[in-house]
Amino acid sequence: MNPMSSRRRFLALAGAGAAATAAMKGLEARGQDEASKIKIVAVACSPRKGKTTATALQVCLEAAKEVNPARIEIELIELAGSSIPWEPAVGLPLEAGRADDFPGVAAKLSDPAVGAIVVGTPVYFAGMSALCKSFLDRCGMFRRQNFALSGKIGAVLAVGGVRSGGQELAIQSVQAALMCHEMIVIGDGRPTGHFGARLWNTGDDDILKDEFGISTAKNLGQHVAEVLLS
Ligand SMILES: Cc1cc2nc3c(=O)[nH]c(=O)nc-3n(C[C@H](O)[C@H](O)[C@H](O)COP(=O)(O)O)c2cc1C
Repeated sequence: MNPMSSRRRFLALAGAGAAATAAMKGLEARGQDEASKIKIVAVACSPRKGKTTATALQVCLEAAKEVNPARIEIELIELAGSSIPWEPAVGLPLEAGRADDFPGVAAKLSDPAVGAIVVGTPVYFAGMSALCKSFLDRCGMFRRQNFALSGKIGAVLAVGGVRSGGQELAIQSVQAALMCHEMIVIGDGRPTGHFGARLWNTGDDDILKDEFGISTAKNLGQHVAEVLLS
């Protein structure tokens, strides 16, 4: 049985109804041509460019690419330094002259080759960063466009300054937002297999020192790639 039909059968057997239909819509959109390239985009929602969230996401993306370098393309989008105002999400006008960089980000996420989106956020007071929330609120436009992200894989990574500083809480609230798009939300794969990548910045911004956290980032990337290709 080819992987596409076995996945279709699994979804049907699971009785997932509308979710199965949505998942298959996404699969068919990205998987008609089994040999086609599939893109995984990671969005780093820290206002600090090139710091721990971005580094951890890059590790996650590289692990995903290793699963099948011939088919998987990766891209890291850093929101640091960009202006992602929330006002348009609620229909309020922007002040004259205020920049809005969201349309450029949205264009990248709209690429039909994108099969998975990994959202990375620093933990701020046990939740996601304000930049991450603004980004997710603006992504509401995809929902209004006939659920344009439906069927894509969604995954989340969070970095905190403490081992258990709220990473899981931040992950959960980002995952909930992704579910509103009919995205298929998954966590990190085995052996760490839990809710997503959860990392600890011990204070010097060298996130590569957090061996366990880095392993969750790698396992997240691998799992995203494996599910995408299945
Ligand atoms: C406003 C603020 C609130 C924070 N709150 C938490 C927190 O609740 N839990 C935690 O583990 N770390 C917290 N941190 C630490 C950051 O999550 C941590 O430094 C992270 O590595 C920053 O990500 P970045 O390097 O990508 O900017 C907080 C940092 C700031 C600036």
